[in-house]
Order: sequence, then C-alpha cells, then structure tokens
Amino acid sequence: MSSTPIGLSSRTDVRKHPVSIAIIGFGGLIGRRHTAHVLSNASAALVAVVDGAPAASELAAELAPGVPYYHSVTEMLSACAADNSTPEAAIVCTPNAYHVPVALELAEAGVHLLVEKPLADTKATARKLVDRARELGVKLLVGHHRRFNPYVVAARKVLEASKAEPRETGESGIGTVTAVSGLWAAYKPDDYFAAGAWRRSRKMGGGSVMINFVHEVDVLQYLLGPIVRVSAEKTLRRYDVEETDSDVVEDGAAMTLRFASGAVGSFVLGDGVVSPHFFEAGTGENPMIPQARRPRRHLDESDESDIQRKGQTVRGEPVDVYRIFGTHGTLSIPDMTLWTCGDKPRSWVNDITVRRIEIDDDPSVPFERQLDHFIAVVRGDTPIEEGPGCTGEEGLRVIAVCEAVIEALDDAHGGRVGVDTA
Ligand SMILES: NC(=O)c1ccc[n+]([C@@H]2O[C@H](COP(=O)([O-])OP(=O)(O)OC[C@H]3O[C@@H](n4cnc5c(N)ncnc54)[C@H](O)[C@@H]3O)[C@@H](O)[C@H]2O)c1
Repeated sequence: MSSTPIGLSSRTDVRKHPVSIAIIGFGGLIGRRHTAHVLSNASAALVAVVDGAPAASELAAELAPGVPYYHSVTEMLSACAADNSTPEAAIVCTPNAYHVPVALELAEAGVHLLVEKPLADTKATARKLVDRARELGVKLLVGHHRRFNPYVVAARKVLEASKAEPRETGESGIGTVTAVSGLWAAYKPDDYFAAGAWRRSRKMGGGSVMINFVHEVDVLQYLLGPIVRVSAEKTLRRYDVEETDSDVVEDGAAMTLRFASGAVGSFVLGDGVVSPHFFEAGTGENPMIPQARRPRRHLDESDESDIQRKGQTVRGEPVDVYRIFGTHGTLSIPDMTLWTCGDKPRSWVNDITVRRIEIDDDPSVPFERQLDHFIAVVRGDTPIEEGPGCTGEEGLRVIAVCEAVIEALDDAHGGRVGVDTA
C-alpha cells in the first residue's frame, strides 16, 4: 500500500487560507470524529462547536480547547454576525431528523454544508434543503464517506474497466453486471440504543434502513447506477415492541433491488445479529470496530493476505460483504477478489482464475479524504459535481430508495415498490 491519496480530483492546498468550519452536534458519536479530523487538517480552522446536550460545554473544553462553544446554531450565528465571523462551512452531525432544520438555518446565513448521512429523514425535507441550497448558492455535500474508501475506489476502477469490450479470454474485467449480493449484518449493543433514543424511532429517522442501509444504497448506486424498484421483508425482532406503533423501527430486512441498468440485487440487513459480514468490519475503516478476518488453515504461517494495521500484523483472509456478478467475472468486496476464466473460454467446466485487486491507500482514511474534498469544493478548487463527493441530489436519491424499502417493509405481503424521486 502506498500513502498516495486517491479518489480526489485535487488535494487541498495548505498555502491557501484555512477554511473556517463549525461542527454542529460535535459531542455525538460521529461529531467527535469530525471534530478530531478538522482539528488535525492544516487546511481547516475549527472556529465553533455546537451541541445542545447538557454536558456539551465541558466536552467542548476537553475535545476542542479554546474553540468557541455554542448551545445552538441560532446562538452561534448571532454571535458570529456581531463580529463578522460567520464560518464559511459547517459539518452537520445531529440526529437525522434535525439535519434539515439545522442545515437550512446555516444555509440562510450562507454557510456551505457537509451534512452527515442520510441527508434528511424524509425525501420531502431533503428536497426542500437541496432546492434552497441551490437558490442560495450554498454548496451542499452529504457525508456518504464510503465513496472515499480505498476498497470502493478500487472496485469502481474495476467496474469502469469492465465497461470496455470484454475479451473472450485473457485478462478482462467482469463484463456486464447482471447481479449483486450484499450483506450488512452486525450486532449493535444495547448501550448504543440507550445512548440515543432517536436510533429506535422512525419519526426521528432511526432504524437500520435509515442509519445503515443508507450507506449501502449510496455505495451500490455509486458503483452500479440508480435503483428503480425494491421489495423487502422484515427480520425477526430483537426487542418486544407493539407492532401497531407507527414509531417502531425495523431491526433488519431481506430485500431485492432492481437497477435502471437491468441488473438485480439481493441484500440482507440486520443490526441484531453477530456476524463479521458488514462493511466496517470487512474494511477496518472505523477505528472503533475491529477488522474481521477469516482464519486460514495454518494461522501461524504468514501469508500475502496478512495486513499491517497500527504497527501490528493482522492475520487471516478478509471477509466479503458484496459480490458483483458479471458476464465475464465476479468481483468480491472488500476481500477484493476478481474471479474470471482467465485465458480459458468461459465455461463452468474450466478452472476459475483468481486475482487479488490491490488497494492503494490506507483503509482508515475516508473521513480525512472526505474533509479534503469538502475543503476543495468550498474553496472552489474542485467543482461540486466532480470527484467522489455525494451531492445533495445524489443524497436525496439514496433517501428515495430507503423510503421505498420502508414502504415495502410496511406492506404485510412484502410489497414491491417503485423508487419515486420526485
Ligand atoms: N458517516 C458515518 O459513518 C456515520 C456514523 C454514525 C452516525 N452518522 C450520522 O451522524 C448523525 C449523528 O449520529 P450519532 O450516532 O453521532 O448521534 P448522537 O446521538 O451520538 O449525536 C448527536 C449529537 O447531536 C446533538 N444535537 C441534537 N440536536 C442538536 C441540535 N439541534 N443542534 C446541535 N446539536 C444537536 C446531540 O446532543 C448529540 O450530541 C446521524 O445523522 C447519523 O446517521 C454517520
């Protein structure tokens, strides 16, 4: 692995003035990560931290010493207006249902936005924000950071190369994609839900579809194009709940997906199952979640699939979470295995050739790369439509798919629902 950054059309230029950034909801799970990244980025200046939680002021002094703390966005904007110090940009890390009200208030003050995923809790509120940001000339990106993950970057390169005319034999990509199978299956502990009641409230934008599947939808659409139809069935419940309560969220689902290209997909989602088959464990991108490895037969032997993380050798084979099937091969992610017929004609009776696709960046960097991209977009160095960043319109399309999944889940007969982006 080299340290060369990838996935950006331009890196930030540290000779320019640092972009002033505020973090809204800095005290939460993801707000703390963004705070640390902004503090360590030479092209950014953390100028305010905002959070309404009772102990947030003490936390601000600990996590961002010397940075002005505000209880609310309103308080921050009026203090900044008084001395002409309104931040150029903000990262919104509040619970899903507060993304749009908070982001609209910032947009009205001309603050450029990186809004955590999902862009909004509903398609209707997302549309309001996307349209208003456009009218105001405010740049709006959505925190679908996996686009910056080196495994996703490498997969996209394979799929782009696969669009070239496939050769009948010899090295080629996977040809035309016909299907994908995906997994996001993990166990979230009880204290995760106890720490944020919104995570189990549909009205607050909680649930495994709006919190986790949103990531999957963005990656799948980024790699394979728009999803146009879904069907879905709920998994067993982990907690006793009143099924008729409209605020109850799903724990997971089995889904089918249809892409505009004609490709189809199946996906199993669950946040109450013990499994290594989820993106964070597969890639090791989240410092809080250990990377899962499938054991080799002889664990004491070193092997090229061993990896170095934080100065330690991580042994074993990587696990997979997506398999993308094509007319000429299959790509498995994030173990990055490319299966083709190699030099032989395509046939199930011929040996399958296996190749490992190299990634060329550290798996733990997507948040840093996303921040670099946001800074470049705010400065005008990179047009918002260029590079891997998720635009407001793309973020809205993710919500449209997730709303269709929820509608299908609510159908007692496992409904088929078309994705409506209007
Ligand atoms: N990109 C990722 O991988 C990732 C991971 C986790 C969470 N998220 C997203 O980040 C967001 C936050 O999730 P979390 O798990 O960190 O939630 P959290 O509950 O841990 O933190 C939210 C924080 O926002 C604060 N807050 C609430 N309303 C506010 C308001 N109006 N103004 C200012 N502060 C406010 C809360 O006090 C809390 O500190 C969600 O949208 C979630 O989907 C993204």
